[in-house]
Amino acid sequence: MRKIAVVGTGYVGLVTGIALAAIGHYVTCIDVDENKVKQLKRAISPIFEPGLEEIMKKNIEDDKLHFTTEYDKAIPGAEVVYIAVGTPENKDGTANLEYIVQAAMQIAEHMTSSIVIAMKSTVPVGTNEYIKKTISANTKFSVEVISNPEFLREGSAIYDAFQGDRIVIGASDEKAANLIEEINKPFGIPIFKTDLRSAEMIKYASNAFLATKISFINEIANLCDMLGANIEEVADGMGLDKRIGRQFLNAGIGYGGSCFPKDTEALLQISNSVKYDFRILREVVEVNKKQNLLLVEKAKAILGTLNDIKIAILGLSFKPNTDDIRSAASIPIIQQLLLEGAQIVAYDPVSMEQAKKILPREIIYAKSSIEALLDADAAFIVTEWNEFKELSPSEFISAMKKAIIFDGRNCFNPVLMKSNGIQYYSIGRP
Ligand code: UGA
Repeated sequence: MRKIAVVGTGYVGLVTGIALAAIGHYVTCIDVDENKVKQLKRAISPIFEPGLEEIMKKNIEDDKLHFTTEYDKAIPGAEVVYIAVGTPENKDGTANLEYIVQAAMQIAEHMTSSIVIAMKSTVPVGTNEYIKKTISANTKFSVEVISNPEFLREGSAIYDAFQGDRIVIGASDEKAANLIEEINKPFGIPIFKTDLRSAEMIKYASNAFLATKISFINEIANLCDMLGANIEEVADGMGLDKRIGRQFLNAGIGYGGSCFPKDTEALLQISNSVKYDFRILREVVEVNKKQNLLLVEKAKAILGTLNDIKIAILGLSFKPNTDDIRSAASIPIIQQLLLEGAQIVAYDPVSMEQAKKILPREIIYAKSSIEALLDADAAFIVTEWNEFKELSPSEFISAMKKAIIFDGRNCFNPVLMKSNGIQYYSIGRP
């Protein structure tokens, strides 16, 4: 058992803290948000994440998991401090390191012995060396900073924490790397040790590669639409090749979320900073922006004008099983539909409260998918929640004024929809 502190209780910090406690460590999580910490102490999760509250509750009861707003309750005596604060996007696309530096200064002020910092936040190549210098300049104790990037996905974060493909440890100090390796051993996940800068790059390169895979398959899907091929057959056929793999070949209306959009932009800015033109990645980002609006383009082509058309939006979160709507495709879609003069009734099983904070006021929120569909001229399926997939053709037909569906996530069988009299348009499946 090691004494560990985790700074930041966002997605990454909270899951990291809970998972480390679950494998036997003594963990204290720090967050500046008093209300959030109050809730966390009562095992109430600030995020919607399947399975998270149960395991959090158990570890709080076992006295292995603690929450505080005060650095001096967590840092003194901790052998390892994980930094898991946000690195939001600056206006120019670069990563904002303000919260990382604040955390580093607090750690320097409160540490009472030598410490190893494990950086979970996604930071540009070279940042961890800078953080080590910053902390060292503000404490008399020795400090090592290692890079330990996070690969968990929202919506399956708990599964990923315990069943991930790899744990990457980047370090310039062998002893520090070994300590982090020992801490992580109980997970039973393969550990890959490397140098600091390569670990930082692995994180950006992995997200950029997955984003590339998605934009690539979306371009193929658009071609399938024009050439009469079926993207699902194509993806299955491609995916059988182990070098390609079937995962992340689901065509749709593009990627969103708090990671791919931000990290691809940040990697482009990192490339710019060394005057390297990362051409593929530039196009990946552009293709995604275009893909986000594909349903609107399809609807305009089919319906002519969208002015005064009532559109039901099913799904607001950037993917199912999360209430996160950051950079979700729903945002540009809704903005564009409003510009075109459409009326919008939206429904999402869990993210409507988040959505109300940032989406335009003109939207009407429904209490169920059927309520959203009532009298609608068309429906847009934006997120592939299971409860949407379970809707039957007759439910669409009886609720809607005209049963016209634009499915951005290929949730239904086109033959079944059409044979039931629904005008059904999906992605890459003519
Ligand atoms: C992503 C990565 O998958 C994680 O490994 C990484 O740790 C995380 O970013 C991060 O950097 O924190 P996440 O954004 O939670 O995780 O969700 P994903 O499951 O990767 O989905 C991202 C977006 O891609 C979603 O909008 C999803 O709908 C879209 N997507 C995904 C597709 O359009 N097609 C696919 O085949 C897969």
